[in-house]
Amino acid sequence: MNKVKVVVTRRWPAQVEAELHKLYDVQLNDSDSPMSAEALKQAMQTADALLPTVTDAITEDIINVENRRVKIIANFGVGYNNININAAKQQGVLVTNTPHVLTDCTADIAMLLLLMSARRAAEGEKMVLSGQWQGWAPTQLLGQKVTGKTLGLIGFGRIAQAMARKAHHGFGMKIIFNVPSDPDPAIVEELQAQRCATVEELLTEAHFVSIHCPGGPATKHLLNEQRLKLMRPSAHLINTARGDVVDSEALIKALTQGWIAGAGLDVFEGEPKLHPGLLNLKNIALLPHIGSATEETRVAMGQRVLANIAAYFSGLEPEDRVA
Ligand code: DGY
Repeated sequence: MNKVKVVVTRRWPAQVEAELHKLYDVQLNDSDSPMSAEALKQAMQTADALLPTVTDAITEDIINVENRRVKIIANFGVGYNNININAAKQQGVLVTNTPHVLTDCTADIAMLLLLMSARRAAEGEKMVLSGQWQGWAPTQLLGQKVTGKTLGLIGFGRIAQAMARKAHHGFGMKIIFNVPSDPDPAIVEELQAQRCATVEELLTEAHFVSIHCPGGPATKHLLNEQRLKLMRPSAHLINTARGDVVDSEALIKALTQGWIAGAGLDVFEGEPKLHPGLLNLKNIALLPHIGSATEETRVAMGQRVLANIAAYFSGLEPEDRVA
């Protein structure tokens, strides 16, 4: 019997690539740079499953390609705003993602950015590396204390809750959140968290704001000029979710004109290109989208993709089906 053919758009950790090779006829993108739209269309015509990731825009055009053979798009990532879900639904193409396995590591990066921003760590490191550090001084690089402060979470899904646990249990932070859906009352109680009726209320109250909502048209520029102006001048904004939730131009103004004290970003509008204005700021910590970048997590993400396609090709419902 012919093996199922899968196209993997980027390199995966060796262990999960090896597992894929044992089970499937695998076409790998050896260059490990994003595939062109043309190459993705071709993959849709020649493979049974497409295994893309956040760097691949799986547009309506790609999904609607003539003579499509792909029946399942199994995303290597929890966020799936890179895939046109409506087009997939219309064409009957099943879509899966990789939830759960990256929750803690992404929440760690959110905490890391919160601490870096509060304690001006990026600025301090630049000072040391550039040879400008002249030694300890009582007024040098004074940041803000984190313990006991209020953390405002925009979105209250798995990653937000994991961050809230670290912040509340580890740093004694008060947790407030805003989310459209009804949160689990047991988790709210565990964290002694308070729900804000509006994003505006949360922004006014929090010392640290961390974004954990999905990207895409519904949340594009949710953090715009008007909302950033509601934050405390001493507040910090953390984004490990999706870049387009924050209006970069507005954030640059907020950081240069002192509407807020600092920001920590792991994701960017239009990444990997960065708004040049972000590069000259002192009060910002920048990371290259490494939320889930640990050995353990990336292997686990590959294993979730494998489980999802194995279920599908055995006639079962994949556990992580999103469309
Ligand atoms: C995801 O899975 O959505 C991340 O952004 C990639 O780590």
